[in-house]
Amino acid sequence: MKYFWLTLVIGIISLTGIFKRLVLNLDKNPPKITNAVHINEDRSLKNAFKNDFYIGVALNAAQIEGRDSISDHFIPHQFNSITPENIMKCEVIHPAWSVYHFELADKYVAYGIKNKMFIVGHTLIWHSQLSPFVKSIKTPDSLRLFMTNHIKTVVGRYAGKVNSWDVVNEALNEDGTLRKSIFLDELGKDYIQLAFELAAKSAPKAELYYNDYNIEQPAKRAGAIALIKKLKARGCRVDGVGIQAHWSINNLSLKEIENSIIEYAALGVKVSFTELDLTCLPNPWDLKGSDVNQQFDNNREMDPYPNGLPDSVQTRLADCYADLIKLFLKYKDKIERVTFWGVNDGESWLNNWPIHGRTNYPLLFDRNFNPKPAFNKVMALAD
Ligand code: XIL
Repeated sequence: MKYFWLTLVIGIISLTGIFKRLVLNLDKNPPKITNAVHINEDRSLKNAFKNDFYIGVALNAAQIEGRDSISDHFIPHQFNSITPENIMKCEVIHPAWSVYHFELADKYVAYGIKNKMFIVGHTLIWHSQLSPFVKSIKTPDSLRLFMTNHIKTVVGRYAGKVNSWDVVNEALNEDGTLRKSIFLDELGKDYIQLAFELAAKSAPKAELYYNDYNIEQPAKRAGAIALIKKLKARGCRVDGVGIQAHWSINNLSLKEIENSIIEYAALGVKVSFTELDLTCLPNPWDLKGSDVNQQFDNNREMDPYPNGLPDSVQTRLADCYADLIKLFLKYKDKIERVTFWGVNDGESWLNNWPIHGRTNYPLLFDRNFNPKPAFNKVMALAD
């Protein structure tokens, strides 16, 4: 009798999934959001701006693997271009000298092809999210060999499928000089040219982009312009410049953004806004004399809206997005793509950067995929 009750209790526990989750730890998928999202054909960003520019989004692993049932339908309805948020970065796709992990990248590319999307590869040569084996390379020859293998293997695998590559990411300092990195240290400034040449060889039809943040700001922009001019003068193919567009509702420099579109386009390259989000939270670097460190975590001053965005801030966010899209529409002949860095507020990296565990509201859809006032204001600009 004792065993009967024991068996019954174990049976019930395993059926409820508690067993699976707590004991076998199988339930690694994010919880499914079950509230219904009404998808209305007329309320689609990609349709609204189809004659203007691609509307892109960064995808995380769960979305790529179809583990997130709502985004599965939601993403192809709203967006016609995709960028992998992390899974094509060196540390994921190329973890050891001769080891490549292509499973997720293959699924990502297949997802884009299935949904007839413009597929972006992000990113080939970048000092961040590098695999540890690259950081320990000690000679210029080995680093050159790494770059050759990496670009040939990754770009070559998706030739004819990935439409545009972020070939080099964040190579510049704020003053426009070249950032110190293992690539600059070992190979000198020509590593950028090498990256573009290798990418062009492996994917002659893909667009090749230089991508960076703050390159709408004058000094850094001057550095980016000089860099692109030099590459082109040496016969390198550079098709576009990606302005990341991680901006803030507290200091959006519309004038500098406009000047940047004009000046980059004058170089004969396409302009894209590749990682758009607008933080609504205070920036720790604005607090003079303060280090960016854990002391800010869970500090009410730095995380002022844990339970929702006040109406006044919501309106400010909507106005900033409307101003931006209005500007982009003015220069739509020069702009190829506007990509949001995440689908909804809950999935944004800005909840954890530069301070971990805050509640941010940087995108057009809220945590339940509902359109925010910013979405409505942006949609009202479409013809
Ligand atoms: C970010 C991702 O969103 C995070 O998930 C990851 O932890 C760090 O990288 N510039 C880039 C992007 O080019 O690849 C970065 O993405 C954000 C800044």
